[in-house]
Amino acid sequence: MNAHFVTLPGDGIGPEVVAEATAVLSVVAARFGHTFTFEERLIGGAAIDAGGHPLAPETVAACRQADALLLGAVGGPRWDRPDAAVRPEQGLLGIRRQLGLFANLRPIRVFPELAGASPLRREILAGVDILFVRELTGGIYFGEAGTRADGVAFQVMEYRPDEVERIVRVAADAARARRGKLTMVDKANVLEPSRLWRRVSGDLVAAEYSDLDYDVVLVDAMAMYLLSRPGDFDVVVTSNLFGDILTDEASMITGSLGMLPSASLGSGGPGLFEPVHGSAPDIAGTGVANPLAMILAAAMALRHSLHLEEEAKAVESAVASVIASGLRTPDIAAGGDSVGTKEMSAAVIAALSG
Ligand code: NAD
Ligand code: IPM
Ligand code: MN
Repeated sequence: MNAHFVTLPGDGIGPEVVAEATAVLSVVAARFGHTFTFEERLIGGAAIDAGGHPLAPETVAACRQADALLLGAVGGPRWDRPDAAVRPEQGLLGIRRQLGLFANLRPIRVFPELAGASPLRREILAGVDILFVRELTGGIYFGEAGTRADGVAFQVMEYRPDEVERIVRVAADAARARRGKLTMVDKANVLEPSRLWRRVSGDLVAAEYSDLDYDVVLVDAMAMYLLSRPGDFDVVVTSNLFGDILTDEASMITGSLGMLPSASLGSGGPGLFEPVHGSAPDIAGTGVANPLAMILAAAMALRHSLHLEEEAKAVESAVASVIASGLRTPDIAAGGDSVGTKEMSAAVIAALSG
């Protein structure tokens, strides 16, 4: 097949990990007889530096023409002034919103050999396999915001019933295809939009997904359960802000944020595939960023946008075999011997080729 990728490397370690993901995809193309083309575009701080805007209209237009988008990360201290007129993060929020990428899938998969890299006890990690389904184009992230003359700042959390229904449907379908368990996380004891979530989600499940084992959990308690009994969850659906926070927390189940990929999907049009982590300014430029989150995100692109399941599995198996062989970047080395970004991705490529 011919597939065209637009890459959006962004800032910090973004370009470092995107380079490895495209190298892996090129090897996949060669091994399986596909033609993949890559077109690089600016986003985030890099785009601000080049043209003043974190997401130029031409970039969005190029993205719309692609089969899949690969994004590294945006942001960093250089663009972080509280009074800045434009911020790198607006580029990321803009591409998600303009392409209608409302469903963010964040799988939490434990590689048994990395148990020592997690701060959690080994027995708590056994069998953990969670799919977070985070709503990505609504809620407080996109609510009316401002600072009034009296100095008070505000940002409004809003959800429409149809926005809730479509994301719960994505999660419920995923649960049906997995272990049949769906957990909806909200703050319905305090927040009006959460009460909408509870009503819409409960009604949808009762009407169309009564075969699922369905549960609701308050977000504060969920933060605790993720550490005390993560093995009890299958698919977890939640709003934009809660999903952002809970998935960074959940990354420590796997040992590192550097292990978590994500897929942002809409209805039609290209998906956006990115690691859950950010631009990691503390390690950018030092060559030690873990490229596996980005490489696993490329595998999700193969699966979800190109429908190349065998190729996706080949990349995931290559990553698993490299982990099993003992190779570690510093974030997953638990203080032991480690390699850099390039060595890690070269090992994945060798495993894929061999
Ligand atoms: P971060 O995710 O960039 O880093 C948090 C910690 O995790 C750091 O110690 C970092 O070194 C480590 N880490 C992250 N990815 C890693 C990897 N692949 N390998 C090894 N270690 C890794 O979060 P932050 O420091 O809070 O944010 C930095 C910037 O990134 C901010 O400007 C933020 O807005 C932005 N950000 C962007 C995205 C995105 O583009 N999707 C996501 C989160 C944060
Ligand atoms: C993420 C990031 C983004 C978010 C930021 C950088 C806008 O933290 O993708 O998880 O909050 O969604
Ligand atoms: Mn985040």
